[in-house]
Amino acid sequence: MSHLLFEPITLRDLTVRNRVWVPPMCQYSVHERDGKVTPWHLMHYGSFARGGAGAVIVEATGVVPEGRISAQDLGLWNDEQRDALVEVVELIHSLGAAAGIQLAHAGRKASTHPEWGTDTPGVSLTAEEGGWETVAPSAIPFGELATPRALDAEGIAAVIEAFAAAARRAVEAGMDMIEIHAAHGYLLHEFLSPLSNHREDGYGGDLAGRARLLFEVVDAVRAVIPAGMPLLVRLSGTEWIEDGFDVEQAAEVTSWLAAHGVDMVDVSSAGNTPGADIPVGPGYQTPLAARIREVSGLPASTVGMIDDPLQAEHVLATDQADVVRVGRAFLRDPHWALHAALELGAPAEEIPPQYVRAFRRQLAGR
Ligand SMILES: Cc1cc2nc3c(=O)[nH]c(=O)nc-3n(C[C@H](O)[C@H](O)[C@H](O)COP(=O)(O)O)c2cc1C
Repeated sequence: MSHLLFEPITLRDLTVRNRVWVPPMCQYSVHERDGKVTPWHLMHYGSFARGGAGAVIVEATGVVPEGRISAQDLGLWNDEQRDALVEVVELIHSLGAAAGIQLAHAGRKASTHPEWGTDTPGVSLTAEEGGWETVAPSAIPFGELATPRALDAEGIAAVIEAFAAAARRAVEAGMDMIEIHAAHGYLLHEFLSPLSNHREDGYGGDLAGRARLLFEVVDAVRAVIPAGMPLLVRLSGTEWIEDGFDVEQAAEVTSWLAAHGVDMVDVSSAGNTPGADIPVGPGYQTPLAARIREVSGLPASTVGMIDDPLQAEHVLATDQADVVRVGRAFLRDPHWALHAALELGAPAEEIPPQYVRAFRRQLAGR
């Protein structure tokens, strides 16, 4: 049986040991609203590297305080946050995996109660609860969330600068790659979508106008990271809603991203419209990645209910993507990649020497 999943992949100067990557997953586990990693993050990210993932992408990390989804999010707007992150990067590296980080601005979906530890998950924080004013391309709220303020030219310039400053800190912390979050209804996706971007200046209107902020962020980040470092963008490949940002627009934006020095697109979907009818099922987002990859020619990763090693292998064997990201299945089984390697008959070199005795029977039986 083929085991393309365990073939290395090279992007610029970085070679990653395999094509099973862990996508960013917010942990809402910052203690002091200070955006700094805690022991939970160390354990969480280290476990995936130990479990054989090729790359581990650290969760959505706010480039400015007002860009956090919740007060418990990670941040990278100051040097203390950078210094705290170093231990996570070193741990991931010591276990043979590559480390990435998703830089994010939550836009109109910022300042909310986190997913857990509250009776009102996903509801806007009040000022008494430490909430803050949110920003967006236009003053259009997301569902029941607070109405955002439309960013002016100065505000847009500050966002671009903040992404670049956070990227510089991520490089200083030792990260191997940077991912820009332009999916799930957060700020950069809000600009991309005609549903949330009603601007009449150069940052709205046609697709090129709506994508302008993303391109300017990409250019600013590319300018501060090493030439050999891969730059990734996560897009929502469709909003699953009529007249929204769709797969053909995403493919066109991706073609332009390639010209701006982006090395890989990760294709998720949705998040910008409450109540979209999403056809959730195994691998449901993979056709989006395949289409965007085909049109743009850019390497793509796919994500979304790819829980089974054979299913993941099939995605690569049928040339639909270059990398498979596995999220919740890794939360359930942090050794997902080790088990996948054994199941597919790959060399299973990712098994840590400390644990080899535990896998002897499986290794011998092949
Ligand atoms: C707990 C949790 C937190 C998440 N946080 C993020 C995030 O920080 N950034 C992001 O782009 N997607 C986030 N996602 C989406 C995942 O990256 C992934 O796309 C999604 O879980 C689908 O993949 P899966 O079916 O393999 O889990 C999160 C998902 C989960 C389950």
